[in-house]
Amino acid sequence: MSCQEKHHILEISNLSVSFRQYDRGTNQINLPVITNLNVSVHDGEIVAVVGSSGSGKSLLAHAILGILPYNASLAGEIYFNQELLTEERKKQVRGKEIALVPQSVNYLDPLMKVGLQVRNGDKSPGVMERMKALFRKYHLEQETENLYPFECSGGMSRRILLSTALMGNPRLIIADEPTPGMELSLAKKAMEDFRQFADEGNGVLLITHDIELALEVADRIVVFYAGTTVEEALVSDFESLEKLRHPYTKALWRAMPRNGFETIPGSQPYVKELPEGCVFGPRCPLFSEECEGEIPERVVRCGTVRCIKCEEDHSHHHHGREEAHTHAGS
Ligand SMILES: Nc1ncnc2c1ncn2[C@@H]1O[C@H](COP(=O)(O)OP(=O)(O)O)[C@@H](O)[C@H]1O
Ligand SMILES: [Mg+2]
Repeated sequence: MSCQEKHHILEISNLSVSFRQYDRGTNQINLPVITNLNVSVHDGEIVAVVGSSGSGKSLLAHAILGILPYNASLAGEIYFNQELLTEERKKQVRGKEIALVPQSVNYLDPLMKVGLQVRNGDKSPGVMERMKALFRKYHLEQETENLYPFECSGGMSRRILLSTALMGNPRLIIADEPTPGMELSLAKKAMEDFRQFADEGNGVLLITHDIELALEVADRIVVFYAGTTVEEALVSDFESLEKLRHPYTKALWRAMPRNGFETIPGSQPYVKELPEGCVFGPRCPLFSEECEGEIPERVVRCGTVRCIKCEEDHSHHHHGREEAHTHAGS
């Protein structure tokens, strides 16, 4: 974030989402599910949002597109192409400048034939051609056009959703866990398409719980935990543990097969049981009393971190000072 001077396609700052709910009868409570979340996507970038189930990834996608449930309220700012994305503007860009590959195949309209949905009702020759090419690419028979969603398998539906997103001429694609259930070669193809789309100067927000996949295709990784961003890192930071910033990101790193599958005890807290201060506190090896206070997001080595224990730079700087000290003493 701090070390990039590129143009922002998407910039989200201090986003919070909460749900109004009734607790025992008429007592209305506000359930915060996303708190002070920051994410940005620049020109030409694939930014992967990783985090376990329930960390708020889909809600982030829905907040950007203005499709949160009626009892949700939203705070913070979302900028798209440097312009404030109001609820009105979200309606205008949805499915056009911003395309969503939804997590659930239930987003397909059950009463509308697939082709009509993919083309968004457009029958012009150019659009027909483009749809045919996408179907070929994703191994969908041309007859798929005339099927209803219930006649398609789960894997087919995923490929239909992907074709729909790539069909228009979006500036930003938000892909919410787009590949589970897809054959590996087709999932790879989808990632190549996202790469090409980004290389043309566009942006992709790739939501996934698969960190390996994220590291393969993305430029930057945003790590979610219990409804907030705990770290924003470059993919190259995942080359070694020392380059990573947050204890949770380090735990994710250690849990990767290539790094020895080492897991940590405990689980992500449910939104109703969030701890005071740092959301990762109860599972953190570095936890101390100060962690129960407010934890601001800080910029550290061209990334961000929400941890008061993370050191600015423990390679060059401090080393140099220590050396100077030794010399002075001798
Ligand atoms: N309509 C809703 N009302 C109340 N809580 C919700 C609602 N939708 C989602 N949540 C809660 O918000 C949290 C984040 O959900 P979600 O964004 O779907 O997670 P993810 O996509 O990362 O798995 C979860 O704890 C979930 O239970
Ligand atoms: Mg989700």
